[in-house]
Amino acid sequence: MRDKVLQLAKEKNAVILAHYYQTPDIQEIADFKGDSLALAQKASEVDADIILFAGVHFMAETAKILNPTRKVLLPDLEAGCSLADSCPADDFRKFKALHPDHIVISYINCTAEIKTLSDVICTSGNAVQIVESFPKDQKIIFAPDKNLGRYINEVTGRQMVLWDGTCEVHDILSSERIMKMKIENPDAVLIAHPECAHPVLLLADFVGSTTAMLDYTKNSESKKFIVATETGILHQMQKDSPDKEFLIVPADETCSCNDCAYMKLNTMEKLYLALKNEQPEIILPDDVMEKAKAPIVRMLDLSR
Ligand code: 13P
Ligand code: SF4
Repeated sequence: MRDKVLQLAKEKNAVILAHYYQTPDIQEIADFKGDSLALAQKASEVDADIILFAGVHFMAETAKILNPTRKVLLPDLEAGCSLADSCPADDFRKFKALHPDHIVISYINCTAEIKTLSDVICTSGNAVQIVESFPKDQKIIFAPDKNLGRYINEVTGRQMVLWDGTCEVHDILSSERIMKMKIENPDAVLIAHPECAHPVLLLADFVGSTTAMLDYTKNSESKKFIVATETGILHQMQKDSPDKEFLIVPADETCSCNDCAYMKLNTMEKLYLALKNEQPEIILPDDVMEKAKAPIVRMLDLSR
């Protein structure tokens, strides 16, 4: 199946982009893998005919918005995101109307429609930088992740108004379980994605996006890490640092991993079928694409 995907990608002039939360087999065949910021930057530059996006819906949507003349395929249209789902556009419009003097900074994990209601987008990789690009007295609504929003408020000393959304994969990680892991592994460093809940972030030695965590573990002198994010990242971490040990914080007592059910909907077979049938394709209304593009491009310009 792997060889068939690579052969078809070649025949159809397709580029495969994959997020670090994909399964190792998919990460290994990707032309480019990255966090959501790097994937957005890469998608905007692709000149192949097809972008096969091994990630979730909002990522493929962002690729389409940034590069509308490419055909963007998502292997499984059900690969959504609990954060994007936590912020329906109609409710968000009403929320925004309650704060008419605020600008809106939205985390990229949101629908294209939420992006049309935003002034600028950010990712976990550049959120602090984007927020800091506005004057200290600028009133800001931050959506949809309240954990990331709260973390940025703490780092920057701001008081952004937060939409009440969470990622179901990160928000469930328990500080009690992590404390136990820390006690059992006193030599381990705790690294966490900013979508984790406040008590987890308080315990963390390092907080950062998937790429920031990868860079941190590569460059750190430590040999052991407790990793509070999605399981998929361990593949690249272990590849970059074969001599180091990585312990994922499990979702609950019954498992030893923490998988995003949406990310893991993509399989090698679905990648093959998507390329073969050139379906499912991401299609968006022109006006939505145009309106959603401005805040994403603003983010890319601010992140250069
Ligand atoms: P990154 O921005 O770190 O890639 O995270 C994306 C994501 O979906 C985290 O849950
Ligand atoms: Fe969305 Fe969370 Fe899955 Fe990331 S890990 S895609 S934020 S549900």
